Amino acid sequence: MEQFVAGDYALVWQTLQWITDSVPRTGQRFLEWGCGFAVVSGLAGEMGYDAIGIEAEADLLQEGMKTIEQWKSIEQWKSIDSRPTNVELIHGNFLPPGADSLADDPTLPSLGHPLPEAYSEIGLNLDDFSIVYSYPWPGEDDFHELVFDRYAESGALLVQFCGPNDVRLCRKANSSNHALNRAY
Ligand SMILES: C[S@@+](CC[C@H](N)C(=O)[O-])C[C@H]1O[C@@H](n2cnc3c(N)ncnc32)[C@H](O)[C@@H]1O
Repeated sequence: MEQFVAGDYALVWQTLQWITDSVPRTGQRFLEWGCGFAVVSGLAGEMGYDAIGIEAEADLLQEGMKTIEQWKSIEQWKSIDSRPTNVELIHGNFLPPGADSLADDPTLPSLGHPLPEAYSEIGLNLDDFSIVYSYPWPGEDDFHELVFDRYAESGALLVQFCGPNDVRLCRKANSSNHALNRAY
């Protein structure tokens, strides 16, 4: 992809491990917004989460599926219980209906995908997930936070990879205190 710089997956893995070991969570469902090659969905599956990745670009989704298939077939995983078999990838839009209206800039890359939202297909809503991961394009991290804050369940976590050495964690506070708690 033009100008795409891959995320620091070792850092994301480290962050997810820390969350898994030390951060209270509401459940085991993990959602990757815009999964691309599905590396992070694979890592989450590897850690035992029920992971779903949503991707708008069909070509990337195919690559993501290859990643998960190859991962499953790697010989060394065959003797390990926690293989990423609990990973599902969906072609669709990760923005719930109406979420576009939270954007203050109509040119944000997450907007304008001519695809239906993916939640109906998986039979889950955004507030069914306890962890959402995104790697926003530059300038749209605030928009992702707004969408998460509007549609996620109270207590859910948003993990964002925003660039080298910049992984952010927010928790949606309960509705009486409508603000995200942040950790960097
Ligand atoms: C910066 S890339 C991150 C890819 C992957 N999450 C990673 O960490 O390597 C953003 C991805 O989100 C996808 N995307 C952007 N907006 C989307 C939307 N509204 N619905 C689904 N996928 C979207 C893009 O096609 C792209 O694959």
